[in-house]
Amino acid sequence: MKHTETVGAIIAVLMLTCTVAGPGHAQDAQHGKAIFKACATCHATDHANRVGPGLEEVVGRKAGTVPGFRYSNAMKNSAIVWDTKTLDAYLESPQKVVPGNSMPYAGLKDATDRTDLVAYLATLK
Ligand code: HEC
Repeated sequence: MKHTETVGAIIAVLMLTCTVAGPGHAQDAQHGKAIFKACATCHATDHANRVGPGLEEVVGRKAGTVPGFRYSNAMKNSAIVWDTKTLDAYLESPQKVVPGNSMPYAGLKDATDRTDLVAYLATLK
């Protein structure tokens, strides 16, 4: 009996935590901005090309199409349109999604971090 009550209390606390953290954390672009620091060495948030192509308006754009950037053939021929789904998959495992692409980045394994990062990318417009 006592045990059941304890479990109940724990569940109640967990549910409360989820309710509080849930909607706010579903897509946290602010957190994503902090994660983007790892990308900013190579990527500008406007149209400027650095080591990597500028990421302004990346959501909704066809992969490999920023003018003046020398993409790999793999990226140019990938036929991907960047949206929240394709970006999430690419950022988890760049070489799996676009084999042979030239982005020297191993991938971001944490799903929440990726969701937040993609939410931040969607604000670049
Ligand atoms: C060490 C440099 C480097 C880092 C770090 C890096 N990238 Fe890249 N990124 C590149 C290069 C180079 C390309 C072009 C790849 C190609 O042409 O095959 C690229 C391509 C991309 C593309 C495709 C853009 C397009 O126009 O089709 C996206 C999206 C992208 N990177 C996002 C990110 C994000 C988000 C991060 C941080 C998690 C990141 N990159 C980290 C160098 C980098």
